[in-house]
Amino acid sequence: MVVVVQNVPTALKTKARLLRVLDGEVLAEPPIWLMRQAGRYLPEYRALRTQAGSFLDLCYTPELATEVTLQPIRRFGFDAAILFSDILVIPHALGRDVRFVEGEGPRLDPIDPAEIAQLSIDAVLDRLAPVLETVAAVRRELAPDKALIGFCGAPWTVATYMIAGKGTPDQAPSRLMAARDPEALDRLIDVLVRASIIYLIAQLRAGADAVQIFDSWSRVLSPKAFERWSAGPIARIIAGVRAEIPDARFIGFPKGADRGLLSFVETTGVNAVGVDWTVPLKTVRDEIAGRVAIQGNLDPMVLVAGGAELDTAIDEILESMRGARLIFNLGHGIVPQTPIAHVEQLIARIRG
Ligand code: CP3
Repeated sequence: MVVVVQNVPTALKTKARLLRVLDGEVLAEPPIWLMRQAGRYLPEYRALRTQAGSFLDLCYTPELATEVTLQPIRRFGFDAAILFSDILVIPHALGRDVRFVEGEGPRLDPIDPAEIAQLSIDAVLDRLAPVLETVAAVRRELAPDKALIGFCGAPWTVATYMIAGKGTPDQAPSRLMAARDPEALDRLIDVLVRASIIYLIAQLRAGADAVQIFDSWSRVLSPKAFERWSAGPIARIIAGVRAEIPDARFIGFPKGADRGLLSFVETTGVNAVGVDWTVPLKTVRDEIAGRVAIQGNLDPMVLVAGGAELDTAIDEILESMRGARLIFNLGHGIVPQTPIAHVEQLIARIRG
């Protein structure tokens, strides 16, 4: 067969493979990126991280954040870059105290209902201006065939950190607020929905090609609470952004949503849904893959282990999603102890 390349418009030739899958195409070789692909497993990240001082300084210095965003693209040639920032810049922009304690993770001052009533989104875009500058700089430097993914945390997950002040085993403090004072939680979620809408619109206008909404703590909710506090608010964010940018592309990641996945997809209107490794891909394929692209779902520990087990796990994912829209990823973020050689092995296996 002769392919007449001259007649293909440049935009089609260079359209990022991730965007082609988000827009409905099935690709024989799936696009690849990894959650937390910029991070401590990379020596070049650790070097810049030390230079920046604090983690938030790194997030708010466009020159450094741009460099860190591009590091994994240069090293591995992933199909997409993800903005280097954190989901907790939103509470920070709302005026809350946010610190990242070495070896312990994030720490915030736990918010109470009286403080929730005082929250205002007025300063959010001004305070996040450096992050938006990073988005624009990355898009300028990134090749046209690579996608840039922007992101925010889902209101539920961000709320759990604001209420507990940190990650706890099952985010009980927020579930207690949901049960005891649902009006207060409604107000907090509403502030986060409005802040996320303006933030994501700004990211898309600055050059993000798609945005991912991380709901890392959706699994701790009962099915009814999941609808109210996780899927519902994400649906409002997506509708709010699309009211301004009708073709905005969304990847939803309701970690551990499990039996709630189909209803999540229907309620929210995402273009793709991220699934973790506990979800049987065959079932996902039968029930959901006809409606949206599927992103996932290698266990990050299998990537740490490497070897023949890694190849087998990759092959199983590719096999169960053959003929469907797959974005190859992990089922959660890459961990710091991951050997670089195993990431190279993963890419070679998928592209080979
Ligand atoms: O490469 C990328 O994926 C982009 C950057 C990114 C970070 N955090 C950088 C980061 C993204 C998309 C996030 C999302 C995020 N942040 C989530 C959702 C995804 C998930 O992992 O569930 C959550 C819950 C957070 C909150 C957060 N930030 C935690 C719990 C931690 C501590 C855990 C850890 O790995 O240290 C962070 C810190 C953080 N965010 C780091 C990075 C690279 C490590 C900080 C450091 O370098 O010291």
